[in-house]
Amino acid sequence: MDPNRPIGVGLLGLGVVGSGVALALQQRRNALSKAVGAPVQLVRALVRDPHKPRRPNLSHSVLTTDPTQVLEVPGIDIVVELIGGEQPAGEYVRRALVQGKHVVTANKDLISQQGSELLDLADEKRLGLRFEGAVGGGIPIIGSLTEDLLGNDISSIHAIINGTTNFILSSMADEGMDAKEALSRAQQLGYAEADPAKDVSGLDAAYKLSILASLAFHTKVDPGQVFRQGIDGLSARDFRYARELGYAIKLLAIAKAQRNGVEVRVHPALIPEGHILAKVGGVFNAVEVAGEPVGRAFFHGLGAGADPTTSAVLGDLVHVGRMLATGGRPLRRVPDDADFYVKAMSDVETRYYFRLNVPDRAGVLSQITRVLGDLDISIASIIQKDADAAAGTAEIVITTHPAREAAVQRSLALLDGLDVVKVVNNMIRLEELPV
Ligand code: HSE
Repeated sequence: MDPNRPIGVGLLGLGVVGSGVALALQQRRNALSKAVGAPVQLVRALVRDPHKPRRPNLSHSVLTTDPTQVLEVPGIDIVVELIGGEQPAGEYVRRALVQGKHVVTANKDLISQQGSELLDLADEKRLGLRFEGAVGGGIPIIGSLTEDLLGNDISSIHAIINGTTNFILSSMADEGMDAKEALSRAQQLGYAEADPAKDVSGLDAAYKLSILASLAFHTKVDPGQVFRQGIDGLSARDFRYARELGYAIKLLAIAKAQRNGVEVRVHPALIPEGHILAKVGGVFNAVEVAGEPVGRAFFHGLGAGADPTTSAVLGDLVHVGRMLATGGRPLRRVPDDADFYVKAMSDVETRYYFRLNVPDRAGVLSQITRVLGDLDISIASIIQKDADAAAGTAEIVITTHPAREAAVQRSLALLDGLDVVKVVNNMIRLEELPV
């Protein structure tokens, strides 16, 4: 590029994050120019309604409703996609790359589903495609996995990567709220979307985990391959019993390297109260990466919102801008390992917590323990809670040693069929983490 002209930025979308980025390009102009080594200028921004009042107040020559005016004009070196969703964002990102423009995006839906193909296209065109804002908002986890930790063999990722559900679970744990009450408070405070289905069901976290796992293990994990269970089956009792046992309950995103494979799952999990992830409260996100030689590295911060995501986008912009200013080339992606497979959930081994409602009489426990023993599920602890003398019932809380998911699912069906079990109230996986 001409060294005498500023680095041109084209924005796709001027929503919450897009406006944050546009504002930062104005307010932080000097700092950004200094970091990049050349001025950085917002050339054009794609909007739906150019007449809508907005901050920053951009001139009408900058605003456009025509994507071609961003994707196919000279003078724009970096396209920043902040529309979200798979389409039309995916088509725009492809067009930008085909037109020889570097791309920065914060779009988790797009990167989780098409990231591998888009990175190949960027490589083919010798262009940068960066997406720090797609996972964990302001937490620099993508750059860490793709650059700083590349010298490691990563063995596992344990993450809290959905702020809405972490807020809900924190409210349930700390204030004894039920899930519905906690969700409506999250919505009142503007933390949860009007339609929080993707958050509550674990889908948002599964998208993000598929990105992290693909990068950490140099493979392609589709979001559909991530085992997923949401938070709606949790009750106040589970939090109470978990605490008594020394555990917190978090919606955990877990990825583990296996021999030639990877285990990827998102589900509520009991984790030791002394582990640092158990202290991550409210809307905060956190990621713990274990690898060799790094050991355990922990990242914590705000996982969503205009400011943290703007920070991630600016970091990517500065990265590409510095490369342009120095006449460098973007780094190629690390090639995927062949023959990597995603382990079936039925083959996963972990620990478990069961909560059962039973009649309070002799012989109940022996029948339950026989079912578990026959399936090679070894009991770690068993306690009887909340006996209701009038109803003649009690709750039994069991934790197990590591067992296979397939055996545990079978045991749940068998326990449900026992006369001495009124109902299996819950089963929650238990993740043993070093404290
Ligand atoms: N809805 C997400 C969350 C933020 O609650 O973390 C966007 O990724």
